[in-house]
Amino acid sequence: MSDDIKFLQLVPIFSELTTETLEKISCLVQRRTYTKDQVILMEHESGSAFFIIISGKVKVFRESEEGKEVILTILSETDFFGEMAIIDGLNRSANVSAIEDSELFVIERKDFLDLLYTHPEVSIALLQEMTKRLRAADMKIKSLSLKDAEGKVATVILQLADDIGKIKQGVVEIEKLPFQQDLANMAGTSRETISRALHSFVKKELIELDGNKLRILDYSKFKDLYS
Ligand code: CMP
Repeated sequence: MSDDIKFLQLVPIFSELTTETLEKISCLVQRRTYTKDQVILMEHESGSAFFIIISGKVKVFRESEEGKEVILTILSETDFFGEMAIIDGLNRSANVSAIEDSELFVIERKDFLDLLYTHPEVSIALLQEMTKRLRAADMKIKSLSLKDAEGKVATVILQLADDIGKIKQGVVEIEKLPFQQDLANMAGTSRETISRALHSFVKKELIELDGNKLRILDYSKFKDLYS
């Protein structure tokens, strides 16, 4: 079995497919590499392709007229993006750029739509992931409109735990915590607020910071407190 097929088996939206179908998909994909900070797609462009992350990380973000950035999410290995403009035919809903050197699989719009029509299990898995993203967006709306500064920072930590954290015996480790300015852009707050809130969580023994690693010491307690 080729490396491409082995990787495609790990992609959640393809998890129900047979090796034969994965082989067909492997003929449709193209590998593309992006260096850290390289723009992958821009808001308002038309949607000509669907992307799956083989390695690395990307940020999905929007910018205000003044160039202020809000990060909607960070995506990593086996995650996908670029489905929205393909499905609704409108322009890209956000910008996406690499925050680490990244390698991606790219599937052309027509091939991706064909896949959705011919393999309902892919469509259902895609809907499940889009539902998860809508739930995360709902949580963010609640956080931005109803929570105090610490609550907003906690929401971002929970989002990162979900997106890139690894859970082991109730402890969640986020290995490469984004820079404080990026955390601020995710939480809709300032870098100073991020720093203050993180220190307060350390003092309350809710988290541990170790270089750019963050550990949530009791994930279910943290979730109960802040979600
Ligand atoms: P598309 O609109 O084609 O291009 C930008 C992509 O960013 C979009 O598809 C989604 O894949 C992704 N995206 C936009 N908003 C969010 C969000 N709130 N959470 C996760 N991914 C998103």
